[in-house]
Amino acid sequence: MDKERKLLIAGNWKMNKTVAEALDLVQGLRRELANIKEVDIVVCPPFTALHEVSRAILDSNIRLGAQTMSEHGFGAYTGEITAGMLKEFSVRYVILGHSERRQYQKESSALIAKKALAAHAASLKPIVCVGETLQEREAGQTETVVGAQVRESLAGLNRSQMEETIIAYEPVWAIGTGRTATTEQAQSVHAFIRKELTNLFEEAVARRVRILYGGSVKPSNARELMTQADVDGALVGGASLEIRSFADIVKNSI
Ligand code: PGA
Repeated sequence: MDKERKLLIAGNWKMNKTVAEALDLVQGLRRELANIKEVDIVVCPPFTALHEVSRAILDSNIRLGAQTMSEHGFGAYTGEITAGMLKEFSVRYVILGHSERRQYQKESSALIAKKALAAHAASLKPIVCVGETLQEREAGQTETVVGAQVRESLAGLNRSQMEETIIAYEPVWAIGTGRTATTEQAQSVHAFIRKELTNLFEEAVARRVRILYGGSVKPSNARELMTQADVDGALVGGASLEIRSFADIVKNSI
């Protein structure tokens, strides 16, 4: 598939996998995906597996991401982890503002914007998540909600930081539910997000930003989603926990 932007497919392992399980998974992916050059492949294990996974993917085409980080550089923030600490494990990407963190940890878009700036300061590429709930979609508020999340979560980024930022559109009603947005629903919101980026930055910047789709992505729907003009990859939860399904999503996307 010939796309304007290089596809990026990231596995969000969430709160799953012991170190031993993480190693099994990543070693299998390394074997299965060794020849893939067309897609940027990223795995995001829990913090506790970062060290071992980073060693297991040395000299491979798999890159490492984390699932969240602190907006602060150091100090008395019990339980938190800084961008600099992630860098020690060769982490390159960090998911920010996942809907589960927005919901359970009450993360606001303003906080996510601070985290995105802190990530860039450490040369980590943020994957900033946005998405509407089912109630918001049914009330016809998708663009209002997603537009506000995009504006507020990216506040303060300059153009070059924006170009190094990835956006993940994840409709909350499609996460872990088996209910995927139709390709048309995904494309329509992705195009809307790119239009917002044009307004906020400029067209040349908006054209370079990768916008991933997330929410029940599986081997059977990956290809169709990736054929959409503004869908530049996927953020995969459940189906990233097994070698076969994640490897097939990557292969089917090309
Ligand atoms: P899912 O999760 O693929 O299990 O729906 C996606 C995500 O939350 O990133």
